[in-house]
Amino acid sequence: MQPGCGCFGEAFLDRDEGRYITFIMDPFQYVYVIRNSKQLEFHEFADKMASKTFDYPALSKGKFPDLKENLHRIYQYLQGKPLDIISDHMMKNLQDIFEWKCSQATDWETEKMYKFCCSVMFEASFVTLYGRVPAADGHKVISEIRDKFIKFDASFPYLAANIPIELLGATKKVRKELIHHFLLQNMTKWLGGSKVVQARQDIFEKYELLGDYDKAAHHFAFLWASVGNTIPATFWAMYYLLRHPEALAAVRDEIDHLLQSTGQKRGPTYNIHLTREQLDNLVYLESALNESLRMCSSSMNIRISQEDFVLKLEGNQEVGLRKGDWIALYPQILHMDPEVYEDPKEYKFDRYIENGKKKTTFYKAGRKLKYFLMPFGSGISMCPGRFLAMNEMKMFLFLLLAHFDVELAENKAVRLDNSRMGLGILLPDVDIAFRYKLRS
Ligand code: HEM
Repeated sequence: MQPGCGCFGEAFLDRDEGRYITFIMDPFQYVYVIRNSKQLEFHEFADKMASKTFDYPALSKGKFPDLKENLHRIYQYLQGKPLDIISDHMMKNLQDIFEWKCSQATDWETEKMYKFCCSVMFEASFVTLYGRVPAADGHKVISEIRDKFIKFDASFPYLAANIPIELLGATKKVRKELIHHFLLQNMTKWLGGSKVVQARQDIFEKYELLGDYDKAAHHFAFLWASVGNTIPATFWAMYYLLRHPEALAAVRDEIDHLLQSTGQKRGPTYNIHLTREQLDNLVYLESALNESLRMCSSSMNIRISQEDFVLKLEGNQEVGLRKGDWIALYPQILHMDPEVYEDPKEYKFDRYIENGKKKTTFYKAGRKLKYFLMPFGSGISMCPGRFLAMNEMKMFLFLLLAHFDVELAENKAVRLDNSRMGLGILLPDVDIAFRYKLRS
């Protein structure tokens, strides 16, 4: 079949390689897709793409009974009380890194911003999730893994687009080397890792048909999920704050106020502790973060029809689906809808605040929206790491602004690089220099 495109009421119909893709454009219809998780499946599609990208055997072939369900159960370690524990570890690891940075930054230090966010967030996330080799070269091992990760990540959009890895230069070699870091004999040397990674390891051990390399490839895939989006999202949050002095001042005020009111001292040698409630109450910080997520997230939520059926939509509309057809939600359109967000291309750090509290009511055409901000996906494919991700980014910004004076060192435009459109958080098209100095 030739590719083609047609219009379907309020949905677009796209035809690609003989398979129809219906884009649901109207956010009031999202709920009809999201709640229909029986007929509109997601995992088979994700499994196909992830197993090819990260080089492990597909789960859906029946070879590994219940593995998918068992892995999903483990996501409980990213919520509730376990979330507090892992967030505390992340805070401690971030502080160690910032303390080290502080010892270097007695006068203005200049660095590239993306590189900075990548180095801090990668190391802190890695140590929090997987632990660290206690020997002196612990930093070195993580830096090596990070550098390979960056190379692999540059090829990620091509792999996701099904380009054979053999055509992507050194990517295959780099991926193999990365996976080798996660072989059991290497992972057992890392101390102080998280429960979620330990629980995944325990589950893999129960599957005899999973080879050592396959297990390592699963660990690598989880690493990618945990930092692949968090690093660029942290970059955008920091970049927009530095571009908007009024936003930076408001967020810094909020941070200083919290430190003061909880009797905590600012400075790299003091241990800062933030409870879940305190993190949650940083409304300016959260709003600024949400605003940058609104502007830089571009994930497509895809579902695949499991049978021929008619999907009923609001207003007596319906879409006839054949088995194997795709339905796609593309929240970036909602995020940029001027009916929902006034001047959507403008960064307004307090967009998600109303009367000093979190704003959660947004309207389109006078009607209240159930979904208005969806950087973490939806329904059955919603990101299980979303609470940790928000905490991590808040803690990064908190420590950065508590310890340092920070400003841009270059005056150039940074734009979204659209090559990851549909795949998550977009990267910047160029890196930009910034300066930081210990606050007096
Ligand atoms: C800003 C940061 C993050 C963003 C924007 C993000 C976004 C997403 C999205 C949109 C999905 C669904 C993908 C799809 O529909 O195909 C997803 C899945 C996933 N995310 Fe995140 N994520 C972030 C951080 C994290 C973190 C910190 C972790 C773990 C520590 C994590 C773990 C995962 C996992 C394991 C999945 C796959 C879930 C499954 O098995 O179905 N993510 N993420």
